[in-house]
Amino acid sequence: MTLPPHSPTPPALQLWHWITDPIGYLEANFRRYGDLFSVRWQFFQPFVLVNHPDYVQQLLGADPRHFDTGAGSTLLRPLLGDYSLLLLDGEAHQQQRKLLLPPFHGDRLLTYGGVIQAIAHTLFLAYRGTVVNVRQVMQRISLTTILRVVFGLAVGERYSQVEKLLTQMIETVASPLKAAAIFIPWLQQPWTNWGEFLEKRRAVDRLLFAAINAKRQQQTLGSDVLSLLISARDKDGQAMTDQELRDQLLTLLLAGHETTASALAWCLYLIDRHPSVKTKLLQEIKAWDNQIATINQLPYLHAVCQETLRLYPIAILTQPRIPRQTIQLGDYTIAAGTLLFPCIYLVHRRPDIYPSPAEFRPDRFLERQYSSYEYFPFGGGGRRCIGAAFALWEMKIVLLTLLTEFSYRIVPDPTPIKPTRRGITVAPSSHLRMYITT
Ligand code: HEM
Repeated sequence: MTLPPHSPTPPALQLWHWITDPIGYLEANFRRYGDLFSVRWQFFQPFVLVNHPDYVQQLLGADPRHFDTGAGSTLLRPLLGDYSLLLLDGEAHQQQRKLLLPPFHGDRLLTYGGVIQAIAHTLFLAYRGTVVNVRQVMQRISLTTILRVVFGLAVGERYSQVEKLLTQMIETVASPLKAAAIFIPWLQQPWTNWGEFLEKRRAVDRLLFAAINAKRQQQTLGSDVLSLLISARDKDGQAMTDQELRDQLLTLLLAGHETTASALAWCLYLIDRHPSVKTKLLQEIKAWDNQIATINQLPYLHAVCQETLRLYPIAILTQPRIPRQTIQLGDYTIAAGTLLFPCIYLVHRRPDIYPSPAEFRPDRFLERQYSSYEYFPFGGGGRRCIGAAFALWEMKIVLLTLLTEFSYRIVPDPTPIKPTRRGITVAPSSHLRMYITT
């Protein structure tokens, strides 16, 4: 059994390249090795990046019982805890997933529409006439939204505490250099930023346990996700423990707002940089009946969101797929237990699927339908992102609120805006700023 080719660069240097310039790392390897290549990083077992839709289909389209995922996501363990949906496998995963999917889908989305609109409107109004950091404002909107949906928490004292501590915790490992502590075990020391991260995480935990306790005391539970999790029972009639609840809450909070905020920041940047896209979008919005229920019937708005997530996917890899038995990928016989990562970024940038792949051209999504293995910003199969519909819904409502009730311009900056590491995701450069007007 052989693994696909790998770069001869020493593993420590490869890891450093990945930490400081993940996009450059992927592109350099793709240019050299193409559809399948192996990665050898210091401290990690070798794994494979999968960059062709046919092979992606073999992994994401397969029966999920043939693969594990959570077992390979060890990096996330200190961030999210052992019981996070992202870290579970098998029956435990399926059971939790079944529980967590409905609140983020279907009619439930409609009920959040007005809430998201009000949150966005209030913040844009507060910032009107000022220059703001785009990601930070988008993050405030997405965090407030997810806190409402997950905890049923409105802006108030506990909300402010969670917002402050969670944001501080994220920042301790966000920048490319600080994120190094996530990947390099010997940086995980009390005297590095990792120590600070653990301290903030403990403070966040205290708040989450207090929120769980307060919710357990309530006579009648609400329709928020925490209430749903508290009342859930497994097939043996067991309720979730506080630790299980905490891990799932933190997962939803982190996965649910960081990603959406970065996607929105890219959207605003790209719309501003492409006046013809902006004009076309504004024309579509002008003809819209202003009803939340019809937002998903705006094809160009949808295409703008899709194209943004194609060009700049926030998660550049899916979670790993680990075959339980030997599998054949192209010319390679891959041993059971090998970590295989479909690479969202590289597939989305393939010129044979997306002509002029570096161009922002939402129309491509109106001209052609892409398969779930050519376009998969939310991963796929039995592990597809449970928040995909929710994130798109939120993106559309925030964009519509800004474009119909206000106006904005990206502030010109001599330093280019580039995809930059932010913890384990990739976001626009942190200096992206905009000016909000009416
Ligand atoms: C633009 C925003 C988002 C992007 C780009 C994104 C992307 C992803 C990706 C690529 C995966 C891995 C899927 C796979 O391995 O096949 C994932 C999983 C996940 N996402 Fe998202 N996500 C976003 C928003 C959200 C939101 C809003 C939530 C929560 C409400 C969420 C919760 C999760 C969870 C819990 C998983 C794990 C699913 C599982 O393992 O079964 N995400 N997401």
